[in-house]
Amino acid sequence: MTNEWTKPEHAEAYLARMMDIPHRLEGEATLLSEIPEQSRRGLDLGCGDGHLLSLVLSHCPNATGVGLDFSATMLQRAQDRFTGDERVTLVEHNMDDPLPPLGSFDWIVSSFAIHHCTHQRKRQLYAEVFSLLEPGGAFCNLEHVSSPNQRIHDRFCQAMSMTAEDEDPSNKLLDVETQLEWLREIGFEDVDCYWKWRELALLIGFKL
Ligand SMILES: C[S@@+](CC[C@H](N)C(=O)[O-])C[C@H]1O[C@@H](n2cnc3c(N)ncnc32)[C@H](O)[C@@H]1O
Repeated sequence: MTNEWTKPEHAEAYLARMMDIPHRLEGEATLLSEIPEQSRRGLDLGCGDGHLLSLVLSHCPNATGVGLDFSATMLQRAQDRFTGDERVTLVEHNMDDPLPPLGSFDWIVSSFAIHHCTHQRKRQLYAEVFSLLEPGGAFCNLEHVSSPNQRIHDRFCQAMSMTAEDEDPSNKLLDVETQLEWLREIGFEDVDCYWKWRELALLIGFKL
């Protein structure tokens, strides 16, 4: 299965435009609003340059965080961002493989990353996330999901100023409903899509 993200040029191209993703800040603000400020320990899956991890750590001033990614380019950028910040640990790991022993977490977040795994692996990963969460913990996945049909997908691409050639061949997009159902089956509670703009959706579940 194609995954372009270990190629430095693929990561660099994303980093150059990542803050141009429409409505990104709205999704991130909703995600932050579901994480208690007193939370202690968190994990960002597919952390990229550490953008989301840094937002959550600002929101939770007493927390430590682990950023996990498999791209050397991304991990170097995250390292640069967090230089001197002892609250952050970065881990090189391919999410196609079971998560390594990382300890337990009050929150596990991810943005625009898990859709690069196969559907089968997505579901396994969600179950691994559940097992790593402390009681009361939150899983917040700000994700690129599939549209219900080609017309709606085309309108998303148009709104993103993207042509078919611009689409990431690493994408393995899946609809919201299937992913919410999986989260419920795994044991997450209060599962819902908490925010959505076209193909960008915030899927959240809690371990009560
Ligand atoms: C679209 S970027 C998002 C980065 C960051 N989370 C953000 O919101 O800006 C996708 C990220 O997922 C990472 N990624 C993709 N597939 C991965 C895999 N199998 N294992 C670990 N990281 C992966 C990429 O290296 C990249 O950093």
